[in-house]
Amino acid sequence: MPEYVLDHHQEGERERLALMSRLLDPMHCGQIERLGVGSGARTLEVGCGNGSVSAWLAGRIAPGGRAVAVDLDLSLAIADVPGLELRQADILAGPVEPGDFDLVTARAVLHHVADAEAAVVNLVASARPGAAVLLIEPDFLPATVAEPPEVRAFWKRWLAWSRGQGIDYFIGRRLPAMLSRLGLQDVEATAQTAHYNGGSGWAVYWRQTVIELRARLVASGKLDDRLIDTFLARCADPAWWTQTIAFTAAAGRVRGE
Ligand SMILES: C[S@@+](CC[C@H](N)C(=O)[O-])C[C@H]1O[C@@H](n2cnc3c(N)ncnc32)[C@H](O)[C@@H]1O
Repeated sequence: MPEYVLDHHQEGERERLALMSRLLDPMHCGQIERLGVGSGARTLEVGCGNGSVSAWLAGRIAPGGRAVAVDLDLSLAIADVPGLELRQADILAGPVEPGDFDLVTARAVLHHVADAEAAVVNLVASARPGAAVLLIEPDFLPATVAEPPEVRAFWKRWLAWSRGQGIDYFIGRRLPAMLSRLGLQDVEATAQTAHYNGGSGWAVYWRQTVIELRARLVASGKLDDRLIDTFLARCADPAWWTQTIAFTAAAGRVRGE
């Protein structure tokens, strides 16, 4: 199995994923509602994390549907949800039940995957003809113009560290072309950026993430304690408003129905 940089067994990871669910599920579920998935549908979510979206899908596709949630590591996934099937797998290993699903979705996963294009091929191959494929990934464009300059400097070095880890924080903008190249039709994409201030959910999310990774960030030589402390102080300051990520949601339909 490939390694995932924010290991689920690290202290605080359960809370960090719960925060991600709180911050991103409304957008993700709204996109799914727009695609029109209802009772009896078969859905697949890859890289489900704690499984909050798949648990919501399990309720939505009842009665008669199947909600399958896949991750490299299911140790933090919600268990015992009626209609929800958890499955441990690596999306790079191949499609999940080829050609079976009415909806295939992945959020905040592909930027961590060594070969994102190969992963998207496997996601699309898991969908039946006519099915919807919905991908949601970050694009750190807003971080490159963040204020004040020391926060921009923090993000510049964070991005240098992440490139060294094989993380692609600018993958969002590439999603629509990826889906088009694979022959999907009705491809559409939008990006949504949260504006947040110190003390808010996003600030707490970043504080938690940076604290989890702090030792590795410093050891890499890309970030030092001074810059990290400056950033963490901003995250606690309600007067500081900022933007970090545009989340691109790209969707299309598999041809052939
Ligand atoms: C940043 S978390 C996002 C979790 C969830 N989708 C969310 O947005 O809250 C990335 C998840 O993708 C999973 N993951 C990473 N690489 C994967 C792969 N090759 N196959 C399946 N899951 C993978 C990780 O284990 C982790 O749970």
